[in-house]
Amino acid sequence: MSVTPKRLWVVGASGALGGALREELAREGHEFVWTYHTRKPATDDPRAQFLDVRDAPSIDAAAQRARDILGSLDALVYLAARATNTGRFLAMEDVSPEGWDELSAVNLRGAFFATRAFARRCEAGGNVVFAGSIDGHKPVPASIPYAATKGALEALVRSLAKELGPKNIRVNAVVPGILERGLSDLLPEQLVSDYLAHDALARKGTLREAASVFSFFATENSYVTGRAIAVDGGL
Ligand SMILES: NC(=O)c1ccc[n+]([C@@H]2O[C@H](COP(=O)([O-])OP(=O)(O)OC[C@H]3O[C@@H](n4cnc5c(N)ncnc54)[C@H](OP(=O)(O)O)[C@@H]3O)[C@@H](O)[C@H]2O)c1
Repeated sequence: MSVTPKRLWVVGASGALGGALREELAREGHEFVWTYHTRKPATDDPRAQFLDVRDAPSIDAAAQRARDILGSLDALVYLAARATNTGRFLAMEDVSPEGWDELSAVNLRGAFFATRAFARRCEAGGNVVFAGSIDGHKPVPASIPYAATKGALEALVRSLAKELGPKNIRVNAVVPGILERGLSDLLPEQLVSDYLAHDALARKGTLREAASVFSFFATENSYVTGRAIAVDGGL
């Protein structure tokens, strides 16, 4: 353990990247409360909370419970996201208004309300880290509402960084390319090959590689704010 232990609230940590991040944070000696939605942990974990981020008013109460458990909060990591509401990659003709609203509520609106809930309880300054996506960062073939919400998340990073800078809260997005598992499982095989053909390192990122960057920005970063940091092997 080389850095001072931090206290984190990790929203949407029951998935592929969330699991890797929990392992990384535990290895580094940090304390954290984390949330799940449909994937309840198999064994009882007093630091796991149920949270459906579509229910915006419940987000503030969940932040308060995390604060009560940990005593204080130094960082928020927001990983909650859905790439589709149909189980399939969403091309233009597949998008419904309900699907659009669903992805927007989880990927974007939830990130805003979680940040506000965190900022209300972050007394000594800290870090907010969102999971962006290469789909919202560059012109690549993408599930359309997913790309739109992830792009908007980067705008949210910039405006929140300005609003929260005076409280010494840094706000950034870590922007993965294609990782070995998780939401990328949805991508058609041909699309993955096309991505990798243009990738400088010509491989998918491991969950641990991505988690270590999230961990750095959540627990060690003191001067980077308002940025989107790509972790994509040079796509
Ligand atoms: N894997 C990749 O290649 C990749 C690439 C670029 C960006 N990312 C980003 O990395 C983050 C994590 O992705 P992942 O690959 O680990 O995906 P994942 O395994 O599907 O995890 C998604 C997380 O979001 C949570 N979630 C979904 N709907 C929710 C809701 N209504 N309320 C609260 N939580 C909700 C899930 O909870 P439950 O599972 O409990 O329902 C889960 O914890 C996402 O933001 C994603 O966009 C991933």
